[in-house]
Amino acid sequence: MARLPVPDVLVVGGGIIGLATAWRTAQRGLAVTVLDPVPGGGAAQVAAGMLAPVTELQYGEEPLLRLGIASNVRYADFCAELAEASGGLETGYRATGTLAVALDADDKAELGELHAFHQRLGLDSRWLTGREARKLEPMLAPGVRGGLHVADDHQVDGRRLLTALLAACERSGVRLHRAAAAELLVEDGRAAGVLTDAGERLAAGRTVLAAGCRSHLLPGLPEGVLPPVRPVKGQILRLRMPPAFGPFLSRNLRAVVRGGHLYLVPRADGELVVGATTEEQGHDTTVTAGGVYELLRDAHELLPGITELPLVETSAGLRPGSPDNAPLLGPTALPGLLAATGHYRNGVLLAPVTADLLAETLATGAVPALAAPFSPSRFARSPQ
Ligand code: GLY
Repeated sequence: MARLPVPDVLVVGGGIIGLATAWRTAQRGLAVTVLDPVPGGGAAQVAAGMLAPVTELQYGEEPLLRLGIASNVRYADFCAELAEASGGLETGYRATGTLAVALDADDKAELGELHAFHQRLGLDSRWLTGREARKLEPMLAPGVRGGLHVADDHQVDGRRLLTALLAACERSGVRLHRAAAAELLVEDGRAAGVLTDAGERLAAGRTVLAAGCRSHLLPGLPEGVLPPVRPVKGQILRLRMPPAFGPFLSRNLRAVVRGGHLYLVPRADGELVVGATTEEQGHDTTVTAGGVYELLRDAHELLPGITELPLVETSAGLRPGSPDNAPLLGPTALPGLLAATGHYRNGVLLAPVTADLLAETLATGAVPALAAPFSPSRFARSPQ
């Protein structure tokens, strides 16, 4: 059997997190291989690409907010550098800002509390009356009671980003090995690479697990090294805003409708992405009539004119959720094995910062302070 070159770093999983990490790590001068049967796939192929650290903020998630903001402020430069490294591929990054609106008195009260929370944290978040919100977005339903304008929550096109990352990886010398990981190799108490489903032994100095909601399922992974990363299904729609329609929507729009998070992301090329359901039913990516109905029904309450638009695609992806819904970043308890997974609702947003933090650890051995709260060892069971 031909001997495969031994990379410094083997990244298991060629989705947005794996590719961004591989690219940044190769830039640090390390030899990197990405293992994935179809690199450039994963949840970011489905995601709307909202970069929303402030409007997706939940109470008690301040460390995640800091991480999200750290990634958000890197995004414009990350995309510009990626365009250059990929030979000119654009990522659809748009600094649109986001409008979060309330449809009834309860939503309005909840949004008001979120605004107060934003203010306590010193975030740029401005309260608008219903009339002011409609002035920004004239197609909004007359019933909209008020909203929050967050100037720094933007958007990127996940599909274009993946294409650009693949090209940048290849041009930076990252080797793409098209196979699946069948088993983690552990030798002398240390991760030593993987066995592929084609029976190849892929040895590596360090192995990074970036396989989304399949990360913890890798055979050979010692018990307790990685917590479960559960799949959380999101169904999503793509519509088209014909130019003749005028400016249908100019910025990201979001709302909580009947307890569910609804968002609409208008791209510069006329695509309008509507998401997303939140369903916990295993590794199922079926698009259901009920999911499409709910999204259209709720979107119609916000923007009644949406039913006139052509519906061009329906899809479903799996968000990787850790037990506390925050990412798993950096060295695990198994020497030689690092994690870059569990990004849940924020994989696209957190890709630049994840890649920088992992590349720093892989290049220097140090764990940056920003990554420390997200150590995979926070789930390690203490001895009884
Ligand atoms: N970040 C949006 C979602 O997960 O649906």
